[in-house]
Amino acid sequence: MKIAPSVYAADIMNLNEQLLELEKNGIDMLHVDVMDGHFVKGMAFGQEHVAMIRRSTAFFLDVHLMVRQPERVIPSIAKAGADMITVHAEATEQLKRTLQQIKKSGVQAGVVLNPGTQPEAIRYVLNDIEMVLIMTVNPGEGGQAFMEDMLPKIAEVQKMVEHTSIDIEVDGSIDDVTAKSSMNAGANIFVSGSYVFNGNITEQIVKLKKVLI
Ligand code: DX5
Ligand code: ZN
Repeated sequence: MKIAPSVYAADIMNLNEQLLELEKNGIDMLHVDVMDGHFVKGMAFGQEHVAMIRRSTAFFLDVHLMVRQPERVIPSIAKAGADMITVHAEATEQLKRTLQQIKKSGVQAGVVLNPGTQPEAIRYVLNDIEMVLIMTVNPGEGGQAFMEDMLPKIAEVQKMVEHTSIDIEVDGSIDDVTAKSSMNAGANIFVSGSYVFNGNITEQIVKLKKVLI
């Protein structure tokens, strides 16, 4: 089980300090949201920010592209130092080709499913991915309510990937309660934004770790 704190919810004026605190708590994976103001309303981190985080930390960088036509930005996000790039199944007309493009740039690839998207969308790309990201809120902003009806979807995806090494990540309103129910449904990587950063980071991580065993 892995926790991937979401930089979107961090205090960017104190980012270094907050990242050090995460490291001290054994966290080695960071979730970085990229929003284009088009696929989703919000706008967030670009290539330069990914590169800045890369230069000053050793975290595994899990970059979540909430971007239309992600194929346009994949080369620069890979060059900026992403370790994993995830693209929304809904954001590209050429999902398989886009995933192959990510792999060719030397980065791990993942597919993200919006809440209304069927698990079926990943069936024919299982050979091209290391991870499936199941959104448990509508993408584009932090601090929303967890969608309980995504739990059976996690279980469905888990069935599809059970004989593979594909990870299942969940993103959206993950706290100590929803992390546990998502884990029970089959998730093994947990993105957490407001729960981790809107409080004492160490205490919040300890609480998450306690339920993720
Ligand atoms: C939502 C983003 C998330 C966000 C999660 O669109 O993809 O990564 O930061 O924030 P919380 O945990 O507050 O829902
Ligand atoms: Zn995200």
